[in-house]
Amino acid sequence: MTAVTPARIATEWWRDAVIYQIYPRSFADANGDGIGDLPGITARLGDIAELGVDAVWLSPFYTSPQKDAGYDVADYRDVDPLFGTLDDARLLVERAHELGLRVIADIVPNHTSDQHVWFQAALQSPPGSPERARYVFREGRGTDGSEPPNNWTSVFGGPAWTRVTEADGSDGEWYLHLFDTSQPDLDWTNEEVLEEFDDVLRFWLDLGVDGFRVDVAHGLAKEEGLPDFTPDDTAGSMGGDDHAPTPYFGQESVHEIWRRWRTVVEEFGPDRILTAEAWVNPVERMALWTRPDEMHQAFNFAFLSAEWEPAALREVIDRSLLAFGSVGAPSTWVLSNHDVVRHASRLALTAENPQGHGIGPESPGLPIPELGLRRARAASLLMLALPGSAYIYQGEELGLPEHVFIPDDARQDPTWFRTEGERYGRDGCRVPLPWETDAPAYGFSATGATWLPQPDEWAHLSRAAQRGVEGSTLEMYRAALRERAAHGLGHAELIWRDAADGVVSFDVAGLTVVANLGETPVAIEGELVLASAPCDGLLEPDTTVWLRR
Ligand code: GLC
Ligand code: CA
Repeated sequence: MTAVTPARIATEWWRDAVIYQIYPRSFADANGDGIGDLPGITARLGDIAELGVDAVWLSPFYTSPQKDAGYDVADYRDVDPLFGTLDDARLLVERAHELGLRVIADIVPNHTSDQHVWFQAALQSPPGSPERARYVFREGRGTDGSEPPNNWTSVFGGPAWTRVTEADGSDGEWYLHLFDTSQPDLDWTNEEVLEEFDDVLRFWLDLGVDGFRVDVAHGLAKEEGLPDFTPDDTAGSMGGDDHAPTPYFGQESVHEIWRRWRTVVEEFGPDRILTAEAWVNPVERMALWTRPDEMHQAFNFAFLSAEWEPAALREVIDRSLLAFGSVGAPSTWVLSNHDVVRHASRLALTAENPQGHGIGPESPGLPIPELGLRRARAASLLMLALPGSAYIYQGEELGLPEHVFIPDDARQDPTWFRTEGERYGRDGCRVPLPWETDAPAYGFSATGATWLPQPDEWAHLSRAAQRGVEGSTLEMYRAALRERAAHGLGHAELIWRDAADGVVSFDVAGLTVVANLGETPVAIEGELVLASAPCDGLLEPDTTVWLRR
C-alpha cells in the first residue's frame, strides 16, 4: 500500500471537493431533439462553475442502444450520436478546465451492452470459445438445460439469466446479466477483459478527464461456482447487504481490480481519481473500497439512506468519518443521484421506498411538496458543512422534487418494464432541468421537446427564476459553497455539541451548525451566516443554520 503522507493530503483536490453530477440526457439539449447532449452541457457549464463546485461528473455518454439510459455501453471509446461526437467531448473537457472545473467520466465495467462487438461475437461463437469466455455463459440446469444455471435475480427484476439460440438453431447456453437482458456481465477473471479496460481508462485519461465514477464497483467479481442466493429484501435493490455474503456483490477479489486501476490512473499523475459506486453496507465495509491503494472515494449511501432523525444522522456521520478516516480517505456525502427518489421528495415520504423502486401516482404515503423542500434545504445545508467531499445531483440546487405524475406510457426505466409496473423505477428523478421560466421546455430544449415530461410547477423552480433571488434554493447553495470554501469546512474537524431533543449540532472551523429535525422550535444564539429557512432567534423545525462563533 502507498503511504499517505500529510504533505500529499494537503494538496489533494478531491479530499474536500464538491462534485456536481450531470445527467447528460436531462441537462441541456442543444439540437432540439428532446434529449440533452454534450454541446448543451458545454454551453451551460458557466452556470455550474458559478455555483462554486470543483468538478462535474457526467453519467455515460458513450455509444449505446440506451436500454438503460447509457449504462449499457456498446463502444467505450466513442460518443453516442445522441449526445454528440468525440470532438464535442474534447471541447467539453477543455471548456470545463477553462472554467476551473475538473471532469469525472462514468465507466461501466460490470457489463457491456448486448450490442458491444464482443457480445455480438460471443453470440456467433460456439460454447467454450474465447469469445464466450469474456462473458459469463453457462449451461442451463435440468435434463434439457431449460432451467437457468442458478436462482439469481436481476436488480431490475426477473431472472438474471437469458438463454441464447446457438448458430444451428438449437436452444443454447445462458448468459448472466445482473441488470437488464441487454447488459451481459463480463467475466473479470479473464485477462483480456482486464487489459481492455486498462486501455479504455487510458483513452479517456489521455483525452483529459480527471477521473472516473465507477459503476457497480461492488459487482464484477462473482463467487466461484456461482452458488444459488436469495437476497435479503431489506438490502435495497442494488443488493449489498450486511447479513450474508452475496455471491455477486462485494466479493473480496473485486479489490484486486481496483488496485490495478489505481496504478493505471496514477500513470497520469496524482490528481486523477476513482470514485466507487459500491452499494454495500455497512459503511465500514464500504470504506474497504477506499483503502490507499484502491479508489479515492466512494459514494456514502449510508448517509443518503439515513432517516431524517437526529440520532440516525449523528450516528451515520460519526461512523462515516471514522470508517473512511481509518483508511486515510475523506468521507463523501450525497443526498441524491439518478437512481434514487430526489431528496426534496424522499425526506417527506411516509412509506418505505426501497432504493431504485421509485414513486408514482399510486405509491403509498406520497410526500407533501412544501415539507419535502423544507427538509431538503435543511439537509443540504447540513451536508455542505460536513468535512470531506460532497456530491450534488443536477437540479437539487433548484430544489427540484421527484416528478411523481409521469404518465405510464411515458416511462422509460427498464425497472418499470421488467416488474410490469410494480416498481415505478427512476424516471421521476431524471426529468429534464428547467432553465428559464417562459421558454419552451423551460429552456431545456429550443423546440420544447423533452424525453420525459416536465411538471407544470417547474416554471417557478427554473434557474432563471431563482438567480439573484434572496432566499431561493439556488442562492442558498451558492452561498453555502462560498462559505464552505472560505472557512475550509471540507478539511476541518467536526466536534459535536450537546443539543436539545430533535436537534443536531456541531462546530466546524469557526462555525456552529444547528439543524432542527424535531417538531418544536428551539432558541439559538450567535451571528447568522446562513439559514435554510427564515430564522430570527428561533430555529423552526426542519431548518438548519450556520452561525459564527
Ligand atoms: C448503476 C447506475 C444505474 C444503472 C446500473 C447498471 O447503479 O447508477 O443507473 O442502471 O448501475 O449499470
Ligand atoms: Ca439533443
